[in-house]
Amino acid sequence: MESCKTDGSASSVVENNEEFKVHVFSSASELLGKLQEKWKSGEKKPYPAMYSSIFGGIILDPAMMVIPIDDHMVHRGHGVFDTAIIFDGYLYELDVHLDRFLRSAAKAKITSPFPRSTLRSILIQMTAASKCEKGTLRYWLSSGPGNFLLSPAGLPTSAFYAVVISEDFKQHNDGVKVITSTIPMKSPLFATMKNVNYLPNVLSQMEAEEQGAWAAIWVDDDGYIAEGPNVNVAFITNDKELIFPLFDKILSGCTAKRLLELAPKLVEQGKLESVKTKNLTVEEAKASAEMMFVGSTLPILPIVMWDGHPIGNGMVGELALALSDLLWDDMVAGPDTQKIPVPYV
Ligand SMILES: Cc1ncc(COP(=O)(O)O)c(C=O)c1O
Repeated sequence: MESCKTDGSASSVVENNEEFKVHVFSSASELLGKLQEKWKSGEKKPYPAMYSSIFGGIILDPAMMVIPIDDHMVHRGHGVFDTAIIFDGYLYELDVHLDRFLRSAAKAKITSPFPRSTLRSILIQMTAASKCEKGTLRYWLSSGPGNFLLSPAGLPTSAFYAVVISEDFKQHNDGVKVITSTIPMKSPLFATMKNVNYLPNVLSQMEAEEQGAWAAIWVDDDGYIAEGPNVNVAFITNDKELIFPLFDKILSGCTAKRLLELAPKLVEQGKLESVKTKNLTVEEAKASAEMMFVGSTLPILPIVMWDGHPIGNGMVGELALALSDLLWDDMVAGPDTQKIPVPYV
């Protein structure tokens, strides 16, 4: 019988259980020393800061960026999360993401340990402490640590965690291929709240990668286009209408919602005929002139091939690129309401 060696390397496979000797750490400092080894190289840290309400502060040492194993988000999936991007020293659309985060928490019946204003202040202070000017800010609300039961009733407090991840962003000028997902999509209650149960999303992504596609598209039980595994999807019809599927059974994407506000500019310029949310069948969607993914870290990714069939003429369309420019300009030079400055120290 094969088993994984966990004596430190955790990578080699041994064939005989007798060889399997588990190391016992003699002290916390021995363990910490080992964890710190991993991050010792002079390279830039990928996670420059974390916040944990359980620790009660900001952590800069990646070796200590951990959450308790008895946290109900870990062993029961009782947690919600959200993301915002850090772009040129600003937090783009932080407030819209924070609103969605708290809507998700309410649906998951998780009460935040802090009021909204404190959560917001922690996120801004942590980003400042990270010194990161380009990356993503990810944050979670969990029913918290305390036991391994199903019910969160006996837990002393909910928990708030956040982390900054250094990352670069660029506009996408090339198109990608997609497939239709065969993994069942989440029911509306779970798809409309951004909870940590992303197993269907992960399996859908793996299915796409196995077939050489960038991602897979979900189609709902009524045959209407839903969304991608962590992105929304939008279409341009042959009549130059920009169409987003309705948001009642899928995640209400902050980027999609912003694009719905910005895209009427292209109608004024005569490039688009109209902008709307409407359900589309697979047949209608596959007959569209252009198709694209829309999401915080993209912000637009043109789709040129779906299940082996070209979308439009199979090339990246000019309206997808124009919509990408609209969002990019908003990230670079949008109004103050969209861009929260980070007070780096
Ligand atoms: C399932 C799902 N749909 C859509 C999106 C796009 O949302 P946003 O534009 O807020 O990144 C995400 C990402 O958060 C997601 O996880």
